[in-house]
Amino acid sequence: MQRCSFELTAKRLGCEVRFLQETESTNRDVDAAAQAGATEGLLIMADSQTAGRGRMTRTWFSPSGANLYFSLLLRPDVELAVAPSLPLVVGLAVAEAIVACAPALLPKIKWPNDILVNGKKICGILCELQTRQDNVDYIVVGIGVNVNLTADQIPAELKERTTSVLIENGEPLKREQLLAAILNRLEPIYDNWRAFGFKPLVQNINALDALRGFSIRVDHAGSPLEGIASGIQDDGSLLLQTAKGPVPIYSGEAHILSRGT
Ligand code: BTN
Repeated sequence: MQRCSFELTAKRLGCEVRFLQETESTNRDVDAAAQAGATEGLLIMADSQTAGRGRMTRTWFSPSGANLYFSLLLRPDVELAVAPSLPLVVGLAVAEAIVACAPALLPKIKWPNDILVNGKKICGILCELQTRQDNVDYIVVGIGVNVNLTADQIPAELKERTTSVLIENGEPLKREQLLAAILNRLEPIYDNWRAFGFKPLVQNINALDALRGFSIRVDHAGSPLEGIASGIQDDGSLLLQTAKGPVPIYSGEAHILSRGT
């Protein structure tokens, strides 16, 4: 496992870094740059966001001076069908980077795009795909990590399900230190995914699965489905054991109902 240091060893991810004191959304900024022809690896980060985007049209709580908010531009030459597994790949890199910087923490990957510590969300990942003639044109990978957020700063409606490195570890962490660790980890994992697909990474991701064995409800395609989460499959889908048998779930939002039997 890589030790956490300030040293950025990644060569292509973060090859150009733009820092903004405040912006609406770094995903929006990278998308605009991509449309203007920016190259893979561009990273835009901000100290705060006024309209940070989450999944399912939610907003991402983005106060200043506390957390990491950044987006990366990727232009992977992969089949369209492979692209939906990218959030899990990014999640693996973030989870490993958190462990490298704060070894006492045990981050888990919650399919399809969250990192939890002690059952609460510490990181959200939003990948936005742009296609061109049925191929991947580019993907904006947005990552928000709650780093030095204090319990007092968390809005009441998020309190029950939100945490930070500071809250869990009892000490602050330099944001740039965690950023370097994420990029250093993500670059080789991303290269592996691009070259060989998702399958070689699935074992490491399953080792950190936050849902396995839990009774869950998945809201997908407008109809909720309940069952026991039974691991992530080679194509990035979540295997749900339902009363009618196993069902692979390719997209949606998972809610933990209870510990399975
Ligand atoms: C989610 O869990 O719903 C995904 C949250 C993603 C938040 C990050 S913060 C940096 C980047 N810019 C955004 O507007 N969103 C992502």
